[in-house]
Amino acid sequence: MEFIVYEQDGFVGTITINRPKALNALNSQVLEELNAALDQVDLENTRCLIITGAGEKSFVAGADIGEMSSLTKEEGEAFGKKGNDVFRKIETFPIPVIAAVNGFALGGGCELSMSCDIRICSDTAMFGQPEVGLGITPGFGGTQRLARIIPVGKAKEMIYGARNIKADEAYRIGLVNAVYPLEELLPAAQKMAAGIAKNAPIAVRNCKKAINDGLDASMDDALVIEEKLFGDCFESADQKEGMSAFLEKRKDKNFINK
Ligand code: CAA
Repeated sequence: MEFIVYEQDGFVGTITINRPKALNALNSQVLEELNAALDQVDLENTRCLIITGAGEKSFVAGADIGEMSSLTKEEGEAFGKKGNDVFRKIETFPIPVIAAVNGFALGGGCELSMSCDIRICSDTAMFGQPEVGLGITPGFGGTQRLARIIPVGKAKEMIYGARNIKADEAYRIGLVNAVYPLEELLPAAQKMAAGIAKNAPIAVRNCKKAINDGLDASMDDALVIEEKLFGDCFESADQKEGMSAFLEKRKDKNFINK
């Protein structure tokens, strides 16, 4: 792959968008490679994923403006679908995905981070949906996910005004969970990922599914979703291991993802 680097460290996989000359902007090739990289993740042995950007300046500075500049209406719609399909794959990816936002997260970059379960960022990060300044709407989920993550009025203010925000404001409005000095960001993401990976993987996956599917359902239906996923855990060896460890007052647990 030309623009995606995949690294595996124990149970944690890291995807790096690697097109630093264009501040990691998302052209069709980057999106296709990102899609392929996700398909290649070994889900038997990977329990958490980190997505970050190459270089010290940018996470992802948006969809590629050069590529978009000459699109027709039909091509624009298809390009939006291409991004939406990959980001939806991330959102519904079986294991948790952490965005380590190491700089600009504009347009498609902000949208990529929002398709992840958790966002943490460097103190140099900048978030925004500047699309209306380019004569378009956000097209990779921004009009939908931003208003679901932060208050609707804040989302509308950012999107209508094409107003970028810095890390401290992103933290204040709940767009990111934490802010770190740039050099501490990746270690913090790795520590968070390792903390997730040490828990029972099937239980963690079922939590992600329950939270995501439940958010799209009525409370009555959502609780049924939870009950089923809760029940499923009792078929796993890891439930036996987790509870035996507690009852035997054993600190070490050997979760096998089964
Ligand atoms: N698409 C294509 N190329 C981009 C890009 C993008 N989104 N963002 C940056 N680049 C390129 C620049 O063209 C430049 O390339 P050259 O060196 O070949 O000229 C290189 O990356 C470095 O960028 P700058 O020289 O502009 O760097 P800077 O530090 O002066 O500015 C910046 C950084 C503020 C992020 C600025 O690059 C910028 O405003 N980028 C565009 C941000 C943007 O509008 N993103 C939204 C895109 S629309 C979108 O994403 C739609 C959607 O929802 C799907």
